[in-house]
Amino acid sequence: MKTGATVLSFLAIVFFLSASASNLPSLLHPLKVPRLPDISSFEDDLSYSLYQHSCRGVEGIIYRKVKEWVKKDPTLAPSLMRLHFHDCAVRGCDASILLDHKGSEKSANVSKSLRGFEVINDIKAAVEKKCPKTVSCADILTAAARDATVLAGGPFWTIPFGRKDGRVSLAKEAAKVPMGRESITNLIEFFQSKGLNVLDLVVLSGAHTIGRSKCESVQYRLYDYKGTKKPDPSIDPQYLNYLRRKCRWASEDVYLDATTPHKFDTQYYQNLKKKMGLLSTDQLLYGDSRTKPIADALSFDSSLFSNQFSVSMVKLANILDFTSQDHGEIRVKCNVVNY
Ligand code: HEM
Repeated sequence: MKTGATVLSFLAIVFFLSASASNLPSLLHPLKVPRLPDISSFEDDLSYSLYQHSCRGVEGIIYRKVKEWVKKDPTLAPSLMRLHFHDCAVRGCDASILLDHKGSEKSANVSKSLRGFEVINDIKAAVEKKCPKTVSCADILTAAARDATVLAGGPFWTIPFGRKDGRVSLAKEAAKVPMGRESITNLIEFFQSKGLNVLDLVVLSGAHTIGRSKCESVQYRLYDYKGTKKPDPSIDPQYLNYLRRKCRWASEDVYLDATTPHKFDTQYYQNLKKKMGLLSTDQLLYGDSRTKPIADALSFDSSLFSNQFSVSMVKLANILDFTSQDHGEIRVKCNVVNY
């Protein structure tokens, strides 16, 4: 009965969000969302059968490689999911995050704890052997993030292929990717500028049900929050003690989901109710009228979370940028552009 009511209220939210598109928040809070004609979802340009003839079995190669790496080091699964998000959040999903040159996205402050680059380079080498110059690094990263999700216990979804690799990668553009200190309005605006709505924001934040953060990202919440000489009042006192013990050094790692850090489940949302969100941006999802009802609904029902997570990940992976698609290429090595 309770689940039925939750499902109904969730569906009502989904309906309302899609009916009013992104207008809901703007009714309540003025949002500054620039219209970006060159950013859109190019779902129609992507194809589910692209590699069926040109590189048969490529998804199998990617899956086996991801599995091999994650078996050796399970912490790579969340890292690959995050790497994919950071790729798609700048100039669309074009593998621009993988480029190594001076001043590239990878060199930005927000990128410094990104991991998993060696996994993608290794997969690319294996794929090049079988199908030279055919499969883009952006497609490889997209499939690897999906496989990492599955290996972490999350849902599977099908992926259309045909992304191109971009030749432009600028640290100053990566600096716009949220770091965990933003307001909900900032997050909504950022997601909206990529074609993602409030529902996508809350659901994709659920990726923080696994993985870790550097303590550096949260230490400012623990002692002198916003110059008050007190901790962030939205942290549960017991959790605060735990974090103070755990986070003596900025370079230490701390789990994003303190309760079930290795399980892809709805515990992340349940933690928010108990004031146990690690990042300020996590906790704020439960403190804002635009996002709280969605976080609440997701906390109750794991199949709703899995299903909607797949839908929102497909949307994330389909963010493409005109310019990189026009001038894009199939890189031979994922960390350098072709000559
Ligand atoms: C809503 C905006 C988001 C913010 C502000 C945010 C922020 C962060 C921060 C600060 C970290 C820890 C970084 C560190 O200090 O090492 C992190 C980790 C992570 N993020 Fe997010 N993130 C957001 C959205 C997403 C999305 C959309 C995904 C994927 C769909 C994602 C997946 C992850 C994962 C899996 C980790 C753990 C990485 C690891 O263990 O290596 N995040 N995020």
